[in-house]
Amino acid sequence: MQTPARDIRGSRILVIGGAGFIGSHVVDELVKEDVAEIVIYDNFCRGTHDNIAHALKDPRVKVFELGGDMLQTDILDQAVKGKDYVVHLAALWLLHCYDYPRSAFHTNIEGTFNVLEACARHNVKKLVYSSSASVYGDALELPMTEDHPYNNKTFYGATKIACEHMCRAYYHRYGLDYAGLRYMNVYGARQDYKGTYIAVIMKMLDRLDQGLSPQVYGDGSQAYDFIYVSDVARANVCAMKATATDKNYNVGSGVQTSILDLTKMILKVTGSTQEIQYEPAGKTFVTNRIGDPRLAAEDLGFTYSIELEEGLRKLIEWRSAHMELVEQRRKKA
Ligand SMILES: NC(=O)c1ccc[n+]([C@@H]2O[C@H](COP(=O)([O-])OP(=O)(O)OC[C@H]3O[C@@H](n4cnc5c(N)ncnc54)[C@H](O)[C@@H]3O)[C@@H](O)[C@H]2O)c1
Repeated sequence: MQTPARDIRGSRILVIGGAGFIGSHVVDELVKEDVAEIVIYDNFCRGTHDNIAHALKDPRVKVFELGGDMLQTDILDQAVKGKDYVVHLAALWLLHCYDYPRSAFHTNIEGTFNVLEACARHNVKKLVYSSSASVYGDALELPMTEDHPYNNKTFYGATKIACEHMCRAYYHRYGLDYAGLRYMNVYGARQDYKGTYIAVIMKMLDRLDQGLSPQVYGDGSQAYDFIYVSDVARANVCAMKATATDKNYNVGSGVQTSILDLTKMILKVTGSTQEIQYEPAGKTFVTNRIGDPRLAAEDLGFTYSIELEEGLRKLIEWRSAHMELVEQRRKKA
């Protein structure tokens, strides 16, 4: 068993994709640490200033002033220079990759290659890379350990598999330490309508607001491993501090929740008496997913802390306090 060992006090950290949903929470987690500098590198194609407004009040946090696109290698290189650690979360999301595979190739694969090259050139101590449980595709065995086959069939998953392997090759060629994190289904404050399996939560809340029944597609037996976003952010900091390298880790709760149970929980938390409305099953990429969280606990010292019911309460609280923003995001979706 490895215990977290790196001392990140006084470190300079670059968070690529730091204005996004998960990235902004990573910034919030890093602010709690005694680090010297946290620089956000983001092209704001999906990230927002609202997500980081609170963190920017801390004088150690700033947005890289020259630019924020991973594909602008000279600017990226300047941002990486002098950093001790890099957290890389920037990517196009699943449906964007489905519709625009060439853009996905450039952003997710070439962008990550650019990050690796800059990290190796500037002797970054460790890279924490955001992979995804999408690399597994539909579960062939449950729970999915990190040795589960790459049963992915999506272009998004293909980009994540490519990047995991590029990280591995860079470690063996240049000694660049890294940890890859395969997030399960991340939900929570600041989420928008673009999460493939979690958007269902926002859509149900919208319907309840309108006095309508929540809709479940199919019999609701599709089941996922939901994890609250601040837990995922904490996993990034655990991965940065850990001595473990050259491995990919599941980041999930290890608890399987069906869409039907999720719906019942949303009704309970909101105090709604609406009946569930069943609709014909739609298209989904993955119908069954649960990650084995043990390796992350052993190597990174990470275990989730926020149960689904508590996380849903937090999300609902955030949503109620940011209705204008939620409305804007709904229109964009
Ligand atoms: N949200 C989930 O449930 C989930 C699950 C598994 C894996 N992931 C992975 O976690 C990471 C973060 O996901 P998220 O949900 O926060 O997504 P997000 O879209 O909110 O964040 C990604 C950020 O990257 C930025 N970005 C995109 N292209 C860029 C570029 N070329 N240069 C610089 N910045 C760029 C976007 O503006 C955005 O702020 C992604 O790599 C994603 O694939 C997310």
